[in-house]
Amino acid sequence: MAINDLQPGMRLGLGTGSTARHFVDLLGERVAAGFECLCVPTSEVTAAQARALNIALTDLDTIDHLDLTIDGADEIGPGLSLIKGAGGALLREKIVAAASIAMIVIADASKVVTTLGRFPLPIEVNRFGLGATKRALESVLAQYDTQGGLVLRRTSDGASFITDGGHLILDAFFGRISQPEALSRTLLDIPGVVQHGLFLGMCKKAYVATADGVRTIQTQD
Ligand code: A5P
Repeated sequence: MAINDLQPGMRLGLGTGSTARHFVDLLGERVAAGFECLCVPTSEVTAAQARALNIALTDLDTIDHLDLTIDGADEIGPGLSLIKGAGGALLREKIVAAASIAMIVIADASKVVTTLGRFPLPIEVNRFGLGATKRALESVLAQYDTQGGLVLRRTSDGASFITDGGHLILDAFFGRISQPEALSRTLLDIPGVVQHGLFLGMCKKAYVATADGVRTIQTQD
């Protein structure tokens, strides 16, 4: 359980999503019992939850690093490579994870895959030049010989989904991402791409809930 990895006085990154929400609730209980920590939330939603639980918040302008980030994931692949961003918080999640000495992912067993890509890859893009960015991304998808396409994320009432950073999200249906590092570099080379949901080499430990209990997955290094 990720809550047992905490030490008093830690600086923590707080993830976004339904699983991270449970962790923040547990942390709130600890804080109410006197546990001290200083946290950076990865979304406005998590920030509001943390404030309501009296969890002390700061930002990455005030402190220069975090000890640990705890977050969920949409897919957990080989070597704890991840797809994240179904909740739309991938940019802040990646900034916070990159500023952390360690990242722990919490998820259920349905998220563990042998190859990333079954879950659509969220790609956060600038609103300016959306058509040009889409065309560039479609050409990348074509190189990967995908069956699926690129879908502009929308809210339940049909409006474009806007991230906390004011950007749009295009969900890319790769089906199978055989070379995630190469894809990551290719995507980041497209000017309108702000960030994507591939988290590579960032997570060293995952707690995965299975029918038989919690399984710990760790990378070798
Ligand atoms: C938020 O943007 C995402 O990266 C979440 O961490 C991820 O989608 C996992 O969410 P759930 O815990 O709700 O499945």
